[in-house]
Amino acid sequence: MAIMKTLTVDLADRSYPIFIGESLISNPDLFTPYINGKQVMIVTNTTVAPLYLEQVKSSLQHFSVDEVILPDGEEYKNLDTLNLIFDALLSKRHNRTTTLIALGGGVIGDMTGFAASCYQRGVDFIQVPTTLLSQVDSSVGGKTAVNHPLGKNMIGAFYQPKAVIADISVLKTLPQRELSAGIAEVVKYGLICNQDFYQWLDANMEALVAFDTQALSKAVELSCLDKAAVVAQDEKEGGIRAILNLGHTFGHAIETNQGYGVWLHGEAVAAGMVMAADMSWRLGNITLQEVQHLQQLLKRAQLPCVPPSEMNNQDFIDLMQVDKKVLDGQLRLVLLTAIGQALVTSDFSAETLHQTLAAGEKLGCLTQSDTSITQ
Ligand code: NAD
Ligand code: GLY
Repeated sequence: MAIMKTLTVDLADRSYPIFIGESLISNPDLFTPYINGKQVMIVTNTTVAPLYLEQVKSSLQHFSVDEVILPDGEEYKNLDTLNLIFDALLSKRHNRTTTLIALGGGVIGDMTGFAASCYQRGVDFIQVPTTLLSQVDSSVGGKTAVNHPLGKNMIGAFYQPKAVIADISVLKTLPQRELSAGIAEVVKYGLICNQDFYQWLDANMEALVAFDTQALSKAVELSCLDKAAVVAQDEKEGGIRAILNLGHTFGHAIETNQGYGVWLHGEAVAAGMVMAADMSWRLGNITLQEVQHLQQLLKRAQLPCVPPSEMNNQDFIDLMQVDKKVLDGQLRLVLLTAIGQALVTSDFSAETLHQTLAAGEKLGCLTQSDTSITQ
């Protein structure tokens, strides 16, 4: 039951802890201080509820607890499903002192956070992330959203949780493909701001893929440290926070083009990071060997490292225009200036972008058949 690590997201009066350790979800002491009223609404889904809902409820015995169990999948991350949370809150007469608990991966976390930001103009919520991706990224930093058919995460709010409880033990039930998707966001931190972490990942990738608890704990801790540091500097993405979106402009285009849920978010980010690295190489910032090394690292994590072969330049260009980083019609991308350093820039020619998009399966000279995506 011991907490291995407590980190802080430092945001003045909205600061909050991130607890990282084993068997945390059945520890009432981690929940109770962050719940102000009597009422609690646990938001989870049909996959996570049978696995972990009872353990979380056992930690909340002093509260009046309701639950809403949503359908599982990125394709349900929309306004219709969000409304199911409001239906549950209103029909169970939850008032302004209620606390929502997001028990699930990034889809549940993003939707619960958004519901908390809107319900009665804002109520408290706690993140209990249960995927690697949500433990290293989506539960920290207060980005909440639902998708729109025309663009991913286009409707949402910045709204910080009261606490994040990242229980490494729950990762043991994660499907291998979901674990790999989370590793993509872990690799992102190494690439954008932490070369030592990138080297650590190179040395420990097989342990991570094998669900090694020590390796996973370390990866969650180092990722959350990097993310908390960036968010503390720029909560609402006026500047530096955008580097957390390395690969995401390409990746969101892939997710939207393929249909939400076909490529997992982390898989699309993996291919997108290679595209960003390829462009960075074309601009003279990193070497081709570094692009290829990244591809090999992602391949060892069982991730795709080229975009879907059926997507052409125009598909990407059309979808990338909907990106939240587009300012006054101008596309901005997160690119690498070195391994471990990134910037947000519009300082690239259309030709360079087109060369990367056209490279497709020949990015870094690996091919689709070398990667894990089969659909
Ligand atoms: P997800 O929430 O869809 O979870 C993946 C799958 O794993 C689901 O089927 C889920 O039910 C299942 N699952 C969850 N925990 C499990 C467990 N412990 N054991 C077994 N199965 C489990 O996907 P995700 O990868 O966690 O999150 C992706 C979402 O996060 C995307 O919508 C993305 O846009 C969002 N995201 C948000 C941010 C942010 O800053 N808010 C950052 C990155 C990603
Ligand atoms: N996942 C990107 C961010 O939180 O800013």
